[in-house]
Amino acid sequence: MSPITGKALVAGVVGAPVRHSLSPVLHNAWIEAARLDAVYAPFAPPPERFAAFVDGLRGGAIAGLNVTLPFKEQALALADEASSPAAKAAAANVLVFRADGTVFADNTDGAGLLAAFAAQAPGFDPAAGPVVILGAGGAARGAAAAFADAGAPEVRIVNRTLSRAQAITEALGSRVGALGLDRAATAFDGAGAIVNATSAGLADGQVLDFPLEAAPKACVVMDMVYKPLRTPFLARAEALGLATVDGLEMLIRQAVPSFEAFFGQAPPAEVDVRALALAAIGAQA
Ligand code: ATR
Repeated sequence: MSPITGKALVAGVVGAPVRHSLSPVLHNAWIEAARLDAVYAPFAPPPERFAAFVDGLRGGAIAGLNVTLPFKEQALALADEASSPAAKAAAANVLVFRADGTVFADNTDGAGLLAAFAAQAPGFDPAAGPVVILGAGGAARGAAAAFADAGAPEVRIVNRTLSRAQAITEALGSRVGALGLDRAATAFDGAGAIVNATSAGLADGQVLDFPLEAAPKACVVMDMVYKPLRTPFLARAEALGLATVDGLEMLIRQAVPSFEAFFGQAPPAEVDVRALALAAIGAQA
């Protein structure tokens, strides 16, 4: 490990909880391989003191932060300026602290999602057909915005609570539509991609029971959940012969522009961060 000096750049990730975040594993592996004088640390302020936490960093303590649950919406609201992806997603996963004390919010999740498709489903063209997003929380909204920006002719948001899906369609424009869970088979008809952005199964062991057999054979299925890497949803897609993209690839790909924003250079390509992340997931299991 290269020494951390008095000139070290400092960045980190903030969440509540943050202990399972893979971001320190990824960024510190890159820092070490690039022999940067830098450190990337986890922060878990009490949720009710998040605003005070961010405000304190305006004094120049840190180059930037990745932001994870439950702070992504609040991070955007606290920033002085936001990128277009952050504004469209209504959430920030990156805060950059500028020398003048102002805070810039960005969102690299959408770029990470598209890069994960490019890596694991190279034949996929977002502009070639309708894309289905399952869920209507912050993750779903960001995904819908990313696919709409990438030229998807139609984005179909399917959610248990229809009104939440409709709220996203109102924000993102005419190519984005909303359907209830009972219309999932209709939504899957002709779809080029289906992305699970719900939290179902994360906490309560519930398995998503979507009619994937209604999807075309060329449809690519993605799950933002990466623990386990092969979720029951992805396993069902595979059993139907559909190509899949996993959530770990998205996590890794969103970290790349974050690293660039904090440390001013691209992460070294030779580090197998996927293997490191897999080992860390295994260690946490
Ligand atoms: P995030 O901001 O991380 O995306 P969220 O706002 O909690 O998370 O959203 C979770 C999403 O998962 C919602 O779309 C939720 O559906 P509702 O809007 O109807 O609550 C969806 N979800 C959670 N558990 C689910 C389940 N068992 N079946 C179907 N959808 C579920």
